[in-house]
Amino acid sequence: MLVVKVRSDAWGGTSEVEFRRFEVAKVEHCQLMADLVNATLQDDDLSGKAFPSWFRQQSLQSAADIQASWSGGTQDAEEYFLVSDRGVLGTCGLVINPPHRLYKAPDAVVGWPQISILKSRDRGQGVGRAAFSHLLRRARARGVTHIEIGVFPQNELMLQILSRKGFGAAEIGAAGNGSRRFLIEIEDGSFGNDRPSTDFAR
Ligand SMILES: CC(C)(COP(=O)(O)OP(=O)(O)OC[C@H]1O[C@@H](n2cnc3c(N)ncnc32)[C@H](O)[C@@H]1OP(=O)(O)O)[C@@H](O)C(=O)NCCC(=O)NCCS
Repeated sequence: MLVVKVRSDAWGGTSEVEFRRFEVAKVEHCQLMADLVNATLQDDDLSGKAFPSWFRQQSLQSAADIQASWSGGTQDAEEYFLVSDRGVLGTCGLVINPPHRLYKAPDAVVGWPQISILKSRDRGQGVGRAAFSHLLRRARARGVTHIEIGVFPQNELMLQILSRKGFGAAEIGAAGNGSRRFLIEIEDGSFGNDRPSTDFAR
């Protein structure tokens, strides 16, 4: 079980965030995932700012939908719930070689990270940065050579995470949906200033 510490003034001190692996065989995990996806779809603040309108047009998910899409999917992916004493804050995950990636060099193993902190009150507390570091470590463990991520231009917090010294994210283009694509080469296995998993205090 991986737990990181996040220090937040808004939360009144240090909180622990656990990365709990999503297991598709567990119905309660699928129900929780469906609840989180649906809450995101219905959150005007989140979907309006961070995601384009097509995201909001997706239909609501049931636990069975989640189970079917994860069981039947051909994607190589791992997903985590971000759990604190304040409840489930959101999810993060890593997809290996998703079809929509721009970077397709023959020998590349591309990791596509995803992070979603559900409630606006829980954003900006360091959880996203901790999640991104966790996904980079998982990518390294999985033999990923490049991280590719799509970020909408208005997503200041994610852009801030990517521009952090040490990650070395380079913009490689734009996707049709208006997002910008960034690439991080991790062939040498180093992430510069990336901190150890137990210390994300600011
Ligand atoms: C984007 C997201 C994952 C970031 O996670 P977060 O926990 O909210 O962000 P963090 O607290 O880790 O802060 C990230 C950076 O933004 C900075 N930041 C915090 N609040 C900020 C603010 N109001 N304005 C500008 N920068 C801010 C932090 O200092 C940090 O930078 P640092 O690493 O250089 O210190 C999260 O806000 C989220 O889930 N948003 C909605 C979904 C989404 O956009 N997902 C990503 C799709 S690519």
